[in-house]
Amino acid sequence: MKLKQKLLMPFALSMGLLMSSMVSAQTFKVAIGDAQGGTQYELAKAFAEKLSEKTDGKAKADLFPNSQLGDEQDTVNDAAMGLLDFSVLAINNVTPFSPSVAILTLPYLIQSVDEAKELTLGPVGQELTKNTIRDAGVRIIGWSYSGFRVLTNSKRPVKTLEDLKGLVIRVPKNEIMVSTYNAWGVNPNPLAWTETFTALQQRVVDGQDNPYITVAAMKFDEVQKYITNIRYLFSLEPLIISEQVFQSQTPEMQQIILDAGLEATEHSFNYLNETEKKIKEELVAAGMEIVDPANDEKEWIEAATSQVWPKFYDVVGGKERLDEVIKSLNRS
Ligand code: MLT
Repeated sequence: MKLKQKLLMPFALSMGLLMSSMVSAQTFKVAIGDAQGGTQYELAKAFAEKLSEKTDGKAKADLFPNSQLGDEQDTVNDAAMGLLDFSVLAINNVTPFSPSVAILTLPYLIQSVDEAKELTLGPVGQELTKNTIRDAGVRIIGWSYSGFRVLTNSKRPVKTLEDLKGLVIRVPKNEIMVSTYNAWGVNPNPLAWTETFTALQQRVVDGQDNPYITVAAMKFDEVQKYITNIRYLFSLEPLIISEQVFQSQTPEMQQIILDAGLEATEHSFNYLNETEKKIKEELVAAGMEIVDPANDEKEWIEAATSQVWPKFYDVVGGKERLDEVIKSLNRS
């Protein structure tokens, strides 16, 4: 070991001990929209573990999966008012409270998990976090990378936009997602996440979209038969903390929370890469049929980008801003 490292090691250890001795015992509540086994739960679990490690067990995070603490959109309100500490929820359910976040939900903007990571952890993500504090009273401290949202339905294999016509599809209460389905020629049914399983089961709706891991965690395979492997929206699911709660912490505890969030984010990235393929195989083994969209999804991409993007330029900071973001991804 180099001399400098040797000298710094005891210093770093004593700083760690000092930090944890400056932390008071407390237990936070973390709302989770999805069931255990999903990517949201993995992020929250990793966060809780890191938090406990960094505080010698003084700070704990209790996890409440399956929307036990309320529907995802309601948890944003509760956190803003300081009634809830943390929530993990889909980004599309944050957008109604902080519109500029919509840039991450534009159809076909994000083309890979690496791009999702680059955007969320780079300047774009930092700016959006400032905006959610300002607009919604919540701070993003971590991200779950949940994979592309695929389309499921109970009626027929859907390869083309023609196949999609006539199906009743549930979407979150999110304008961009509604507009995307409109561009694809259907009128979707916006429904809260907590009502989705029952609506699928009772055939009030025929289908919905969510990532493979979410489909499995929510047991949608019990009520859906077909999957179309579309890639219109990479599902990002932030871990948010109530800004009131964050500001009530000591600077040491704030730093611990931020560090634990970042480490949990890294875990989420690895979890997706290690797990998605296996889950896909399990869904097929459970009887689901997966098809690819025809013609490399070209009609879907063309309809969504030409009709949806222009409608939301203002919301995301203008066309130039969007062009800048795309340029920053350094696509070849
Ligand atoms: C939604 O479809 O409302 C969300 O993406 C569900 C989720 O949080 O997984």
